[in-house]
Amino acid sequence: MISVLLKMAAAAITAAAVLLLLCGAVVGFPTGQAPRSSSDCGYKSCPATQPAMLNVHLVPHTHDDVGWLKTVDQYYYGERNDIQHAGVQYILDSVVQQLQEDPARRFIYVETAFFFRWWRQQGVRTRQAVTQLVNEGRLEFVNGGWCMSDEATTHYSAVIDQMTLGLRFLNDTFGACGRPRVAWHIDPFGHAREHASMFAQMGYDGFFFGRLDYQDKKKRMVEKDMEMLWRASESLAPPDDPNLEDYNLDTMVKKFLKTANDQAALYRTNHIIMTMGSDFQYENANLWYKNMDKLIRYVNAQQSQGSKVNVLYSTPSCYLQELHRANLTWSVKTDDFFPYADNAHDFWTGYFTSRPALKRYERISNSLLQVCNQLEVLGGLISRRGPHGDGDSETLRRAMAVAQHHDAVSGTEKQHVANDYAKRLAIGSAHCQVLVSNALSKLSGSDAPRVYCENLNISVCPLTESGHKFSVTVYNPLSRSVSWAVRLPVNGTQYNVTDPSGREVDCQVLPVSQSTQDVRRDRGYARNQLVFQAEAPPLGFRTYSVSLLPSRPPQPPPRPGTPLYLQNKFLKVTFDPDTGLLSSLSNLETKQTVQLKQNFYWYNASVGNKESSQPSGAYIFRPNSSTPVVISLTAKTQTLQNSVVQEVWQQFGPWVSQVVRLYQDSRELELEWTVGPVPVHDGFGKEVISRLDTSINSSGLFYTDSNGREVLERRRDFRPTWVLKQTEPIAGNYYPVNSRVYIKDAEQQLTVVTDRSQGGSSIRDGSLEIMLHRRLLVDDYRGVAEPLSEPGEYKDGLVVRGRLLLALTTPAAAADTHRPLAEAQVLQPLVSLQAGDLPHNTLLEFSGLQAALPPAVHLLTVSQWDRDSVLLRLEHQFQIKESQTYSQPVTVNLKKLFSTLEVVGVSEMSLAANQWKDEMTRMDWKGNTGEKPLRQGQGDPSAWEVTLKPMEIRTFLLLMHPR
Ligand SMILES: *[C@@H]1O[C@H](CO)[C@@H](O)[C@H](O)[C@H]1NC(C)=O
Ligand SMILES: *[C@@H]1O[C@H](CO)[C@@H](O)[C@H](O)[C@H]1NC(C)=O
Ligand SMILES: *[C@@H]1O[C@H](CO)[C@@H](O)[C@H](O)[C@H]1NC(C)=O
Ligand SMILES: *[C@@H]1O[C@H](CO)[C@@H](O)[C@H](O)[C@H]1NC(C)=O
Ligand SMILES: [Zn+2]
Repeated sequence: MISVLLKMAAAAITAAAVLLLLCGAVVGFPTGQAPRSSSDCGYKSCPATQPAMLNVHLVPHTHDDVGWLKTVDQYYYGERNDIQHAGVQYILDSVVQQLQEDPARRFIYVETAFFFRWWRQQGVRTRQAVTQLVNEGRLEFVNGGWCMSDEATTHYSAVIDQMTLGLRFLNDTFGACGRPRVAWHIDPFGHAREHASMFAQMGYDGFFFGRLDYQDKKKRMVEKDMEMLWRASESLAPPDDPNLEDYNLDTMVKKFLKTANDQAALYRTNHIIMTMGSDFQYENANLWYKNMDKLIRYVNAQQSQGSKVNVLYSTPSCYLQELHRANLTWSVKTDDFFPYADNAHDFWTGYFTSRPALKRYERISNSLLQVCNQLEVLGGLISRRGPHGDGDSETLRRAMAVAQHHDAVSGTEKQHVANDYAKRLAIGSAHCQVLVSNALSKLSGSDAPRVYCENLNISVCPLTESGHKFSVTVYNPLSRSVSWAVRLPVNGTQYNVTDPSGREVDCQVLPVSQSTQDVRRDRGYARNQLVFQAEAPPLGFRTYSVSLLPSRPPQPPPRPGTPLYLQNKFLKVTFDPDTGLLSSLSNLETKQTVQLKQNFYWYNASVGNKESSQPSGAYIFRPNSSTPVVISLTAKTQTLQNSVVQEVWQQFGPWVSQVVRLYQDSRELELEWTVGPVPVHDGFGKEVISRLDTSINSSGLFYTDSNGREVLERRRDFRPTWVLKQTEPIAGNYYPVNSRVYIKDAEQQLTVVTDRSQGGSSIRDGSLEIMLHRRLLVDDYRGVAEPLSEPGEYKDGLVVRGRLLLALTTPAAAADTHRPLAEAQVLQPLVSLQAGDLPHNTLLEFSGLQAALPPAVHLLTVSQWDRDSVLLRLEHQFQIKESQTYSQPVTVNLKKLFSTLEVVGVSEMSLAANQWKDEMTRMDWKGNTGEKPLRQGQGDPSAWEVTLKPMEIRTFLLLMHPR
């Protein structure tokens, strides 16, 4: 097991985190100043070491997945031990007991989702004993988020939320001694630069992780550019029964000394760390500690014989402190650790796409959670307990936090566990919907019931399908106005849609396509869709009234065949009349055109061959040929054009279709894809991609985002820090795409914004591909022991629908387009419906902000913290030099933020809100920005002004009163 060192330089706050690599171990440092702590926990509690000896830090730990082969509850209670022997409650029971027996013993615990459950079930005595262990540094929390998040498929906003949830519980329960000093990601399958950056901003001193590419690791070992975090070999930590009685002690001690000395040769200091434990270990902590006690006793006894090895119970932060004391200079890393391969044909790039529907559901749920959080603040106390019942944001917050786990949104769990994650999100969403209804009732003055149609993407909504009169409320969670296309299933042919001032809004009725009917099956029967463009104010809503008009002749049906082009004021897209495929895209404002052919293909999933037995699976992507199979060379097409939207419906066969869609006022082209059920009766597992082949001269380069935030340059068949021997020309070039990917040349940039995390690459110059869906026939030997073949609701294979948004710009102007576009995809408006007429005095338009925030500012968090205070995060959403217009510092006045709430006090916090910023500055951020935190509204009016530098996120606790 490996870890790496993260340097927490001041630069880490705004730009990329700086990583120091020690032999694979990333650890971070305060700059110069030793970390201090106010009590005996933390660094003060570290055991003494021997300066003239090799110190071996034994770190007893357990790795408890928040769901994987079993659900999170099954793991906690130890149910279904037939699948995997694991019961987290017994681990904690057992460890706590063993720690009390000897003050030298240490343990670290990672996943707050489990600890929280356990703590709630303990009595006063145990709680007191545990508190003492924590205060004395004998039980130390590391990482401390609700889970150990996945790094490839998560979005930064959800990661920040789940860390905040876990760390808040630790602080509320244990105060400063509960604050983890190091981040601990020993299992995620590759590491994102954005995660390191977030951890730096959360005030962690170090970041330990476990997996890096085997070629990378080899080089680091040779160059001593890596600090080994050695997982005890089989001889030292037999996984189930670590009983030294059965071993010859002499042999044991000799073996240990040799291993320690061998390892020391790779190190730069006289300290090494050995993690003692692994997945779900320590149910029998007595056995572990008894044997480690013995090991320590016998190995150290050799010192009288001249041995220079000193073994001690320790923790990662104590080990980190020793590295800090060594005062060495470490090498610096600026890229990330993707993709991860543990062998020549074993690239862990399949999970970037695995379970695409769960990935989308997780993303939508994040959007709903943010809406829920905001409305809890704007609606006040009645939001939780109002005319629509009792609602809360907590249930969805926890479900979302669980979903960030590295076997959750990653798609690498068993099917029944994936279902459990989705169920948790659904339950949380239902709680949020009640809260949202209560808040909207309060703000609008109408208690009429609200309906949330969650299957609008397949034209299902009983209320609008049968309704003759209803209203549509669009709530916008962004800090600036948005225009959003509302599409509602209806049966009528003519409707009157009016805005809050009673003005008619241009609306159109289109037939529901055959492809949508095929996906929908018996879930709805609407014949048509009503489409109109809704506008919604910043952090607010707008309500539109819809009424059925006397039937007029039906709208003309779609024309069979392909148009030469679709065009609005901003874009023109042409088609090849022979194939029905896209052929070019033009930006009419910049007068740029690219040739652009788009089609669907599938890679034939390997089931293993003579080169390697590795198949493609939930984790691994391994096509058996580098040439994907085209699904169809031509598309059967139909065309619809009206004043609101223009669409070309493309059918590529029975299981792949697409709508090429251009709204009247849109600067981006929408490709709405539908894939599934993926047929596998031919015996081939299939990995389906959408590929764009363009005339852009991309010279081997493409660009992907890191957790939805900063963008990294990728070069085909290349890694920035070592000479790559490419053994998988496709899978070895795949990277996570969380929100966007682009290619460019000197003049043009084509950006694709996605609606969920997916894998993507550029295999040839000018080409971009996104993997949409995977259905496989065999397991990939990484533990799941199920082939990734999602059954879907009708058990004949999951159908997935999603969209890609395409924007063509100059490279200089690109960020100005794709940043807001991605932002609006991640935080989508929430549409709610009310039947019939609304009472006359209903408020139809509301904004929670006094004014829209500047374009560079993203309102990342508005969330009720406790009765009187609100957590606020403001983010500068542009990188340095990325935008000519927006990559400047920008200032927001907190006093002038909200329209209905007055801010009467403010304190700045760390990113995860578990430390006051001023205390954090003193401890870890020496020589940093030096900005004084504002305390409870003292000082002059300019004290309310908050300046954000490019990519900076600032976190505040606001004391609020209603205005
Ligand atoms: C750390 O090393 C630098 C030289 O690299 C030296 O100037 C400094 O005094 C050392 N600090 C400590 C605390 O030993
Ligand atoms: C809408 O029309 C379809 C097709 O005619 C029909 O099957 C369905 O029952 C209608 N829905 C309602 C609510 O009337
Ligand atoms: C639509 O509704 C508005 C507001 O009630 C009304 O003024 C207008 O005449 C209606 N239009 C049609 C075509 O019925
Ligand atoms: C941490 O918790 C303590 C109580 O345990 C509280 O006084 C303190 O304000 C909390 N710190 C933060 C940053 O919330
Ligand atoms: Zn794990």
